[in-house]
Amino acid sequence: MIDDFISDKKAELILDGKSYILPIIEGTEGEKAIDIRSLRAKTGYVTIDSGYMNTGSCASTITFLDGEQSILNYRGYDIAELAENCSFVEVAYLLVHGSLPTQAQLSEFSRLLGGFALIHEDMIHFFDHFPPYAPPMSILSSMVNSLCNFYPEMNDNPGENIDMMAARLISKIRTIAAFSYKKSMGQPLVYPRHDYSYCANFLNMMFHSPVKPYMVSDAVVAALNKLLILHADHEQNCSTSTVRLVGSARVNLYASISAGINALWGPLHGGANQAVIEMLEEIFESGGDYMKYIERAKDPKDSFRLVGFGHRVYKSHDPRSRIIKNACDQVLASLGITSDPLLDIAREIEEVVLKDDYFVSRNLYPNVDFYSGIIYRAIGIPSNMFTVMFALGRLPGWIAHWKEMWDDPNWRIGRPRQIYTGPKRRPFVPISERKEFAV
Ligand code: CMC
Repeated sequence: MIDDFISDKKAELILDGKSYILPIIEGTEGEKAIDIRSLRAKTGYVTIDSGYMNTGSCASTITFLDGEQSILNYRGYDIAELAENCSFVEVAYLLVHGSLPTQAQLSEFSRLLGGFALIHEDMIHFFDHFPPYAPPMSILSSMVNSLCNFYPEMNDNPGENIDMMAARLISKIRTIAAFSYKKSMGQPLVYPRHDYSYCANFLNMMFHSPVKPYMVSDAVVAALNKLLILHADHEQNCSTSTVRLVGSARVNLYASISAGINALWGPLHGGANQAVIEMLEEIFESGGDYMKYIERAKDPKDSFRLVGFGHRVYKSHDPRSRIIKNACDQVLASLGITSDPLLDIAREIEEVVLKDDYFVSRNLYPNVDFYSGIIYRAIGIPSNMFTVMFALGRLPGWIAHWKEMWDDPNWRIGRPRQIYTGPKRRPFVPISERKEFAV
């Protein structure tokens, strides 16, 4: 596939006095790359790019992101239009299948999601054996990994079974997430219902109780749909690259997604949404002096970072954060919450930061995680479940990337090179003659 995008342009590399001509790849939105696939074979050199800031690991048809222009499109559709007009299930279908579903396709996909919503009863015992303080992300990744034992048919022919596997995973992850919450609360499990939409079903499994029935609100369902859509894909981020890398060894979808969940858990990645709300709570509880935190974030001697700001790719506004900020007001109003002190602090921090030279000169804008926690909190999701919510949203993107990688005729196992900087070869020392290193 990538070879179809080789342009007429060429790059010239002069190395040790010799000239090498390298092809240029040009994507459909004008992104350009120097094709170094034959570099080592021809020159003996590799490239070094810590954090992969300049490395394209693949060609992809799924998501286009322009961090300078604040553009984010899934399969060619603007994220703002999708968030405004679609349900999460429609967007999941779009990402996995490549086009928006017709009504008949959507009904069939929803039917599959409804049909796969239960998890095997034997899996439910697993929840009993995690300690009560187990982080929900650890439970989620363990449970998703174990799905391949209960549904092994995909191991035989993943290419053919991918549609079924995608629906099964998108449906079951929601049940696993809600069950892990119920177990952590010591409450009876609430089983999925076939007559509820995807988001309504999740909310009901989370919050219904035999003594207090949960009233599903249209506004809360709409907010959840929006948040999940905005998290559904973000091209080659850390967790998606993990899913692709693990999957490149031809490991099954469930194990690959489980690895992605673990990558997402990190506080610099999906874990930031929980960290933001904890930071805002800390500021509020310590008297509201947010300037102290902003100053700490600017101090080069302090490792503290203002969570919810900055992004590897966006050097302008994160388009998702604007939509979420607007959605915050709507959700709080619909829930009758007239003021939220954490939202007030968040707004004040944003206002200061957007004018502060430290942040402006480094292109640090609010990211997707800055306001999302305020909505999750308002709809009753506890902060230790925020990153699980991110995982629920990101799942269709991970599946789409795994599928694209699996079907790619140029697929190779992911195996970067390195530059070795350790000791040169030295003689072996028997244990009786070894001396302790002075540190
Ligand atoms: N607060 C204060 N300073 C910051 C921040 C921040 N949130 N983010 C970056 N910087 C500074 C950093 O200290 C460095 O300064 P200097 O040039 O003086 O050394 C400069 O900005 C560049 O930072 P970097 O770490 O080289 O940038 P990166 O692209 O490697 O990291 C990031 C991106 C998202 C990890 C980082 O901005 C960060 O740690 N943000 C806070 C955590 C966060 O909100 N993460 C969620 C990201 S969005 C959701 C997702 O992708 O999962």
